[in-house]
Amino acid sequence: MRLLFLGDVVGRAGRDAVSERLPGLIADHKFDFVVVNGENASHGRGLTEGHYKDLRAAGADVITLGDHAWDQRDALTFIEREPNLLRPINFAPGNPGRGANLIEGRNGHRVLVVNAQGRVFMNPVDDPFRAVEGAIAACPLGEQADAVIVDFHTEATSEIQAMGFFLDGRASLVVGTHTHIPTSDHRILKGGTALMSDAGMCGDFDSVIGVDVEEPLNRFLTGIAGGRFVPAEGEATLCGVAIETDPKTGLTTAVSPVRIGGTLPQALPQF
Ligand SMILES: [Fe+2]
Ligand SMILES: [Fe+2]
Repeated sequence: MRLLFLGDVVGRAGRDAVSERLPGLIADHKFDFVVVNGENASHGRGLTEGHYKDLRAAGADVITLGDHAWDQRDALTFIEREPNLLRPINFAPGNPGRGANLIEGRNGHRVLVVNAQGRVFMNPVDDPFRAVEGAIAACPLGEQADAVIVDFHTEATSEIQAMGFFLDGRASLVVGTHTHIPTSDHRILKGGTALMSDAGMCGDFDSVIGVDVEEPLNRFLTGIAGGRFVPAEGEATLCGVAIETDPKTGLTTAVSPVRIGGTLPQALPQF
């Protein structure tokens, strides 16, 4: 199986890049399944139902979220009727929606996708390690699931790497989201799990993590909030990671970073 994961889509620039480039990427590289993190897709804050549908129409099989999951309040209700939209599994009990689901892809493969949020430099959430482990135990790789993708949404690379080793041999891919900066540590662990500390963002990199420079720079210089954060609207770089898995085991045999368009150095799947 060939799977593509794209990092946090930020604002219009990110949405436009996904809409323009994802259909061609799927066709050219024969991806069987695509996961996109959409927590910043709507004006940099959360995800509206319309933008959720746009990302799905572009070819995303599953949309994951993060700490910005509920910034657009209608997500609290429409997530209940969208099995392909996930919020972190370790949010407090009583949150709407779900954090894991087994989804059938365009070629009939069944993929377990799990979204979790970390606890280092993040708002308090329940234990992500045991929550993800529980979801995978209920739907093991190579049995009910042809592939398992874990989007671990957190700030600290150490926490994501620990999650990768915790799940090595039990997931196809453990990938970080949230920092918006792609890391170059993509690799396959000994047990066959691909790990990348952060997928990066689908957004305009002529910015501070997707936001027009002026306001965040002034806040760092003065400590005073002078206005709203505005998503940068230049051409986005599409950032993520692609993997190929063994059809029998669901473990990963090849991994490649993906960076297309915009201002970052380009990288395309090499398999
Ligand atoms: Fe984000
Ligand atoms: Fe985030």
